[in-house]
Amino acid sequence: MKKKNLVLPFLFLVPSFFGFGQPATVVLRLPDAKTMINKNIYGHFAEHLGHCIYDGLYVGDSSQVIPNTAGVRNDVIAALIKLKVPVLRWPGGCFADTYHWKDGVGPKKDRPSMINKWWGGTSEDNSFGTNDFLNMCERIGADPYLAGNVGSGTVQEFSQWLEYVNGEGNSPMARWRKSNGREKPWNVKYFGVGNEAWGCGGNMTPEYYSNIFKQYSTFMTDWTNSGHMFRVASGANGDDYHWTEVMMRDIPKGLIEGVSLHYYSVIDWNAKGPSTTFTTQQYFATMKQAMRMEELVNKHEAIMDKYDPQKKLALVVDEWGGWYEVEPGTNPAFLYQQNTMRDAMIAGVTLNIFNNHCDRVRMANLAQMVNVLQSVILTNKQKIILTPTYHVMEMYNVHQDATMIPLTVRNVFYREGNDSLPSISVSASRDKQGITHVTVVNIDPRNTNAVEIQGFGSGWKMDNGRILRSAKIQDFNSFEEPDKIKPESFSGAMISGNGLQVSMPPASVVLLTLHS
Ligand code: AHR
Repeated sequence: MKKKNLVLPFLFLVPSFFGFGQPATVVLRLPDAKTMINKNIYGHFAEHLGHCIYDGLYVGDSSQVIPNTAGVRNDVIAALIKLKVPVLRWPGGCFADTYHWKDGVGPKKDRPSMINKWWGGTSEDNSFGTNDFLNMCERIGADPYLAGNVGSGTVQEFSQWLEYVNGEGNSPMARWRKSNGREKPWNVKYFGVGNEAWGCGGNMTPEYYSNIFKQYSTFMTDWTNSGHMFRVASGANGDDYHWTEVMMRDIPKGLIEGVSLHYYSVIDWNAKGPSTTFTTQQYFATMKQAMRMEELVNKHEAIMDKYDPQKKLALVVDEWGGWYEVEPGTNPAFLYQQNTMRDAMIAGVTLNIFNNHCDRVRMANLAQMVNVLQSVILTNKQKIILTPTYHVMEMYNVHQDATMIPLTVRNVFYREGNDSLPSISVSASRDKQGITHVTVVNIDPRNTNAVEIQGFGSGWKMDNGRILRSAKIQDFNSFEEPDKIKPESFSGAMISGNGLQVSMPPASVVLLTLHS
């Protein structure tokens, strides 16, 4: 990569650096960098819902129209490899607690169908099952994260799933796997014990679920014998802190590795608003909801710290993202929505929060990967779109497994009516090659904001930066104009003394790359 100090035209930094407003100030504490940003924070989620699996990821190996490998779209595979997807959660969501994995293995012609009762009553033919999913994960280089059926399944069914995917030797499930064409185990590490046990997973109380969790967990054998099995308890709905308290209090540490949290940026569950034609007020309301993630993470962390001060257990935010009305004319049960610069802002802000809390947040899964909610990819027959959210996640993947640099921010504010929000969101890390990356978001849709980043010693150099922006926050990539929004090179930053001055355009996400 070409390394250079950028010298900027004087006018570019107007207005804020030259007297028209105070810059936001970020102080990086480079000597305090010690905690790794687990790459799994950049995880995804794919459910049997609408066109996420079928048409989105999987078109079947008999498709003559869409190039595929073992039925999975080649264009989607290529995009996901570039994205560096570290971990992928499957098969749900609510669907997980209705899913019987044995229906999805063996010859496809013999697999029974079921009705997908959560998502539109569609017929599920089980043609995309365990082998298909795990082989796809191998192809894209992601660790699988299997969500087991607790709500309508059995302990035996779940424990046999582990044996099927990880068992060695002559065990019955390992033999079945081999007879289905897969000799060696997949070594699956991550398992979710049900999903949303407080709701679609069984409407349980936390006390009841924690007992169920202990029962399931006891019979989850780590067939790999590597001691690396990672069991995640179905976690709280947003600010249900009591749920986390009970999980931490009642489940013995030897039976659990992570507690989940689900939180969506929704304006109002009864009036979610449109995905593209939203007002500035709706934009502000969504940003406010997205930024609430910081409070939620802080408070769930505080409870976890009380029972686990050494931070052995992970907080796993295995569903997050923006949730709006479906696109007009589409099946309401399919949760298909477009993806604008607003979603890029949600992604940038949320990932910065997760990075800054990486001592406890060690996995997160954006909902969902393709064609559902805040997707990184949308498909329409042979065509695909990479959404603004895709581009943010791709820009941010430099943080994966890098060391987080703690920082403090003195912010400037984005005002809407009588309310205001911090305009600037930041996180920073140093990778294994010693390169420092800083990701900055300016959520203010009207104002360019100046940001001064302090804490560098002398002699620092900056490589080319990248920016994601568009003229309007409502802008999106369409099948007619798929590249309207994509990262461009950024020249709005300048090293001056021991600091860095950045001019952040309205509603933009910037990646800065520096080295000493
Ligand atoms: O992501 C869509 C749904 O939202 C999931 O199935 C469920 O877990 C959550 O309520």
